[in-house]
Amino acid sequence: MTTATAPGKIILLGEHAVVYGRAAIAVPVWQVTATATVVSTSPGSGCHVILPNLREEFALRSAGDDQPIAHVARLALAQMGAPADPDWRITLESDIPMAGGLGSGAALSTALVRALFAHGGRALAPAQVSALVYESERHYHGTPSGIDNTVIAWGMPIWFVRGAAPEPFAPGAPLSLLIADSGIAAPTRETVSDVRRGWEAEPARYEAIFNEIGALTRAARGAIEAGDAAALGPLFDANQAALEALGVSSAPLERMIAAARAAGALGAKLSGGGRGGNVIALVHPEHAAPVAHALTAAGAVRVIETVVR
Ligand code: PMV
Repeated sequence: MTTATAPGKIILLGEHAVVYGRAAIAVPVWQVTATATVVSTSPGSGCHVILPNLREEFALRSAGDDQPIAHVARLALAQMGAPADPDWRITLESDIPMAGGLGSGAALSTALVRALFAHGGRALAPAQVSALVYESERHYHGTPSGIDNTVIAWGMPIWFVRGAAPEPFAPGAPLSLLIADSGIAAPTRETVSDVRRGWEAEPARYEAIFNEIGALTRAARGAIEAGDAAALGPLFDANQAALEALGVSSAPLERMIAAARAAGALGAKLSGGGRGGNVIALVHPEHAAPVAHALTAAGAVRVIETVVR
């Protein structure tokens, strides 16, 4: 039996601007994980995939490439040089909330790719895992920037610029973050295309905002590497203001952000596509409980506390 695990992820700064070539920073969220388990079964039984969370089960040979798990499994098996339909039973489990900007799809694919390679006795570098998972992400998200598969494959904070080699980096001191889910579904595809329309209509204004976000993200990397949470907080706040200017914030998110700041957060912003999804708040560990409480009172349906190391 072979098991592999992958974390969730959250974007700290730089979302949307990253689509236009600026840097973004994302971190793994190890409090939520996806796990893949592979066991060999009797000869001739073929490859079966079981998704207990979704109460779903399918034979690899009869699943189309529109089934994302089947697609990434086939890509991985082909790259390993393994048979296309090995006698393996694959079980995929996850406690990462789905469609919430926490990278649930990329984490499941990452755990799967790692478990398949390990079961086949093959090693795989993070960059190879990332490339395989990106292929499958592209299949159903159009042209994602690639930040999800990158940060999840590395399992470390990542400095990410589209088209450039990702730079994993380490914080100078642990950072305490709260990730609060608004409970509002807002497809990233829609906010990304709204930003594109805005940029087409007013390129100079949007480019200036992207530049500002890029500068904030660069400053944030310095603050994180220095372990300086007090310097990082205001950069979160300024990035939030820039996201508001891009038109991807919303009143419910801003209520949660204001509540977090009032309860003692060092800084707070939306994370990911925006309008709905998550808000992140940077806190001193001793303020985590009151800030989490304030976020819940302001409408959060779930708050995850994570420490970035
Ligand atoms: O909603 P998330 O966490 O998957 O992030 C989307 C980030 C964007 O920059 C808005 C889009 C992208 O592909 O990077």
